[in-house]
Amino acid sequence: MRGCARYLVCCLLLLSTLWPAQPVRARHAMVVSREGHATDAGVAILRAGGNAVDAAVAVGFALAVTHPQAGNIGGGGFMLIRFSDGRTTFLDFRERAPLAAAADMYLDATGKPTESSQFGYRASGVPGSVSGFELAHRRYGSLKWPRLLAPAIRLAREGFPVSYDLARSLRSSTALARDAESRRVFQRDGRFYEAGEVMRQPELAAALARIASVGSRDFYTGETARLLVKAQREHGGLITRDDLAGYQAVERTPLVGTYKSYRLITAPPPSSGGVGLLEMLGVLDGSGYEREGAGSAASIHFVAETMRRFYADRARYLGDPDFTHVPVAGLISERYTAGLRRLIDPERATPSDQVAAGRPEGNESDQTTHYSIVDANGNAVAVTYTLNGSYGSGVTVPGAGFLLNNEMDDFTVAPGVPNMFGLVQGEVNRIAPRKRPLSSMTPTIVLREGKFYSVLGSPGGSRIITTVLQVFLDMADFSMGLQDAVNWPRFHHQWKPDVLRMETGFSPDTIKLLRARGHEVETVGSIGEVSAIAREGEWLAGAADPRTAGKASGY
Ligand code: GLY
Repeated sequence: MRGCARYLVCCLLLLSTLWPAQPVRARHAMVVSREGHATDAGVAILRAGGNAVDAAVAVGFALAVTHPQAGNIGGGGFMLIRFSDGRTTFLDFRERAPLAAAADMYLDATGKPTESSQFGYRASGVPGSVSGFELAHRRYGSLKWPRLLAPAIRLAREGFPVSYDLARSLRSSTALARDAESRRVFQRDGRFYEAGEVMRQPELAAALARIASVGSRDFYTGETARLLVKAQREHGGLITRDDLAGYQAVERTPLVGTYKSYRLITAPPPSSGGVGLLEMLGVLDGSGYEREGAGSAASIHFVAETMRRFYADRARYLGDPDFTHVPVAGLISERYTAGLRRLIDPERATPSDQVAAGRPEGNESDQTTHYSIVDANGNAVAVTYTLNGSYGSGVTVPGAGFLLNNEMDDFTVAPGVPNMFGLVQGEVNRIAPRKRPLSSMTPTIVLREGKFYSVLGSPGGSRIITTVLQVFLDMADFSMGLQDAVNWPRFHHQWKPDVLRMETGFSPDTIKLLRARGHEVETVGSIGEVSAIAREGEWLAGAADPRTAGKASGY
């Protein structure tokens, strides 16, 4: 049986070696995003002489129009930048809890969680995207600000043909269907837009035009702020003028770690993504897990056991660093990760109930979207931003045409109670005024022998970290080209629930072998949606994920 599974995996690997899936290739610059018009907007900015940060801002605003599932001005996210001279930085524009937020705000009188952390006006944190894009442009952009919003304004004002993918997603959204203003904006003649129909968003175009003309001031203290606060007041939301006026994106130092000959630059807290990536790589480094080959039951087992242990630590230790001490150095240290490695039985799954968080030193969506950009000077930008769930809270701000996030659900609504991603979280991530909910977003840039090698990231809630981990491992340990690594089937374990989720594409024999090792295996549709770029000699390779309708384009 084991031999048979190994044979199948070898055949798959052999095929991928003989006929590697082809990425898009370009000599100078590349943009990969989840939606074609947004990718084109980024490429146009680069061709006009803009740098990767300019293009990232333009793509971010364009996605707010053409990819309303996750593209946004009503949400938040992270931007990781590596300049061609080696400097790096990380912009944190994560949402923050409103001043009136409280730890038990989503519990009913009997102490049970309500759905209001996921749907409606009370689900939203104070949005950060507009502040983040403005900060990025002010510090690192080169073109004029209005130029960066022009493609988004045009797409909103003149409209764009709805894709098959967007039409299907609009139809299936319960969040949108519950809100009268969202139905007015995203429906025509009483039904959601269908593929091929042109969707215009005049109120959103007007809001974007105001932001183009006066900057983030409009969003946080001007007309857009007025519309947002009015809607919040009328519908029982918590966000006030003071919340908006007090919001400011911040710059942080990225996390950096090594794996074999690679150096990874990634997201610090309030994301758990970078810590997770580096902690798991620390456990895998030197374990020899890769010997049995990609897709083998033995390698999947070892990686899944590694994932299980990180997510136990995530629940115990990770939260907003402005509110809690996060033992980052301890969690990613060689000594700590070597200790975790020793706890893994290579033959048997450890039930999650027997796995508790470790003791590191120093301690005392679905849906999100990611895009990657490299410009002609070699600057690389990775942006992951989000409304949290698909279409966020489902609420569109009347008169301003944009959707609000439901990021408050990323907090621990009640310890031990799973959130929308089934994540069980801990005390350190409880709600408090002005606190940022813990994220899993993992924008990452990889160097090899000191030179730019790849930029990647993904949506997917708790699955983001394990998606980025696997695409990197497929390239680093299994010699896959970029597109093969992005295409390759993925799996995910998050400690609780104690389930190994596997995409279709693994052989039934492999699944049988994993069950024999004690894993509860569940087959799922898809895990993550990667947008990645890699350097291939003189060329840039861009890979959109075949699980989505993304687009890579360059010149
Ligand atoms: N809202 C998904 C995340 O930040 O992890």
